[in-house]
Amino acid sequence: MKPKILVTREIFDEVLDFLGQHLDVESNQADIALTPEQLRERLADKDGVMCALTDRIDAVLVNGCPRLKAVCNVAVGYNNVDVAACTSRGIAVTNTPGVLDETTADLVWALMLATARRLTEAEAYLRHGEWTGWYLKQLLGVDVHHATLGIIGMGRIGQVIARRASGFEMEVIYHNRSPLPAQTEGRLRARYASMDELLSRADFVVLQVPYSPATHHLIGACELAKMKPSAILINAARGGIVDDAALIDALKRGTIAAAGLDVFENEPKLDPGFLALKNVVLAPHIGSSTRVTRLAMAMTAARNLVAVMTGAVPPNLVNSK
Ligand code: GLV
Repeated sequence: MKPKILVTREIFDEVLDFLGQHLDVESNQADIALTPEQLRERLADKDGVMCALTDRIDAVLVNGCPRLKAVCNVAVGYNNVDVAACTSRGIAVTNTPGVLDETTADLVWALMLATARRLTEAEAYLRHGEWTGWYLKQLLGVDVHHATLGIIGMGRIGQVIARRASGFEMEVIYHNRSPLPAQTEGRLRARYASMDELLSRADFVVLQVPYSPATHHLIGACELAKMKPSAILINAARGGIVDDAALIDALKRGTIAAAGLDVFENEPKLDPGFLALKNVVLAPHIGSSTRVTRLAMAMTAARNLVAVMTGAVPPNLVNSK
């Protein structure tokens, strides 16, 4: 008998076919979001789950799933999974690192360029029929080229973001738990800075840390106050790293100039304060959303799941069983 698994959200047909070759698959191609109770019911007799960052895999859930041996997240971040609870129950947890770095970095750059050049504001102005003609001081933005880029969190994605900066001849500074090897710094033309220096010097502050209790509200009123009034904050990492209420207040007061956001606290609920602001560019958590990358993420998660179910070590294990 094949191991029984649940795929909690719609996935690509080719991934479903691959899973079906090895496993007994229950899928959710209708993509009807499962409530925590429905998830618990559906998982009660499953050996594995391929889940999304919208699924909360907590201790209560895993304790109610006696057969569960694998939780394979279709995301690089796995803050939706209680890893400690899984580990103590011998459940393997996996993620999808590597395959989304370039695509996510592209979206970060899209947010940087769009905020700097007020692109969504300009488009709304056009769409609302407000454009009556060219004038010199129309929708003045700020330059990205030759500006200072400050990256907080210089892991894989942070480094790919930095690499793109050389084409814009930017100065790159970064803050990380520990500095990168000198050779990597040289290749990226990036210099380590303290958090205070980065916040006070950068024209663009880009957040690229994972979300955890340690990074909850890493950027709050105090950090925003250290940034330049002309600075732009970009967050395409995780909601909760930024204190959204403090950010809205800073954007209203002009403590900082603008923000580009792909993630929010309590998403998909959005603080309505953001919607009233012109100096913010908003996206619905689409950082990794190209067909190629989302397919690669789903296939990576599927390979991890098949590995665990067939007794192999999955390529992207984040805990030790
Ligand atoms: C997306 O947010 C991811 O963590 O992959």
